[in-house]
Amino acid sequence: MQFPLTEEQRLIQTTAREFADNEIAPVADKHNREGVFPADLVKRMGQLGFLGMLVPETYGGNGIGNFGLVLALEEVNRACASTGVTMSVQNSLVCAPIVHFGSAALKKKYLPKLASGEFLGAYALSEPGSGSDAAGLVASAVKDGDSFVLNGTKNFITTGAEADVVIAMLRTDPSHKTRGITAFIVESGWEGFAVGKKEDKLGLRSSSTVQLVFEDMRVPAANILGEVGIGFKIAMHTLDGGRIGIAAQAVGIAQACLDASVKYAEEREAFDQQIGKFQAIQFKLANMATKIEASRLLVYNAARLKDAGQPHGKEAAMAKLFASEASNDAAREAVQIHGGAGYLEDFSVERYFRDARITEIYEGTSEIQRIVIARHVLKNLR
Ligand code: CAA
Repeated sequence: MQFPLTEEQRLIQTTAREFADNEIAPVADKHNREGVFPADLVKRMGQLGFLGMLVPETYGGNGIGNFGLVLALEEVNRACASTGVTMSVQNSLVCAPIVHFGSAALKKKYLPKLASGEFLGAYALSEPGSGSDAAGLVASAVKDGDSFVLNGTKNFITTGAEADVVIAMLRTDPSHKTRGITAFIVESGWEGFAVGKKEDKLGLRSSSTVQLVFEDMRVPAANILGEVGIGFKIAMHTLDGGRIGIAAQAVGIAQACLDASVKYAEEREAFDQQIGKFQAIQFKLANMATKIEASRLLVYNAARLKDAGQPHGKEAAMAKLFASEASNDAAREAVQIHGGAGYLEDFSVERYFRDARITEIYEGTSEIQRIVIARHVLKNLR
């Protein structure tokens, strides 16, 4: 796709592409098969500036912004979606809310370490009893002097096993559903914090997904993001950005599916010719390529709006909805083009097929994205 990029944007894309091809891709299948968290690659992402792309230079980041971030995310996810989700969460769900809502002291304390990769972060909203209905959360934070005492369990937390800091949404007022939630930064080294059940997943097998348990965990009031009672808004605002990152992840996985399928269609022969000469295969490739470009444009549009400080919730939801479904279509067709070979671990399309599935689920299911979009479209319902 020929999209006009500035010199800086081209450099980000090229750097991420070379990193993905030379350092991530060669180990991605092995890491995913063995369920290994790619600590070395995450460290390299810190060195390359890929973990602080939304963090201003004054706080140790490079302030490149969302457009540069999606360019890099697409490349990293093309090689490995597990590595890609670690990068997306660190930038969009952890650094971004601290940049937007953190006090100067919190920014100074946490952002430089997060941007460099010395600290890894996680985002804890979902609970065993609340996923799509995010405001149904019950894990509590009760004020006690200058601190709050946290109790409860958070569910499906990406990078939870490795995280040094967690952005956690807790109930501070049981009398109001959405306005009774507060966002805290908690450190995993503090007493009362424990990593619970580690999930065994269909895909993203080299990214950890765990329960986090807070048991009488004392957190200073100074670690509140924003103020008491606005945690749900912070969570939603943060997810508007995160969804752009997951949409970029979906584009990366879909592009990997197309690249592998083109290669196979040119190599594999059947009925005395390359299978790419059959229209049945050509039409699949044409559909994949078209949906990828449409997805990419939706992602670019949402990222540019966010960088311009304009409303972008609807566009982020559209990008995630369309790109995640396009990614799953591409993964299904990639396996089909590979035939029996696509069903084997020996070919990466088997991993892409498993990894694509989560993009329609996390950071808001496709059904939730449709709800968000519909609420923007319908203005006059009573
Ligand atoms: N930005 C700022 N504020 C927002 C907002 C946004 N995007 N969306 C809603 N709000 C505000 C509303 O204005 C409203 O404010 P008031 O109290 O002042 O009126 C308040 O939040 C409540 O809004 P709603 O009435 O719309 O809330 P709701 O309960 O109907 O929920 C929802 C809306 C869209 C369904 C929401 O619950 C949702 O997005 N659910 C999906 C949750 C989700 O995406 N979870 C992902 C978990 S994290 C993850 O997956 C990470 C990972 O693994 C990588």
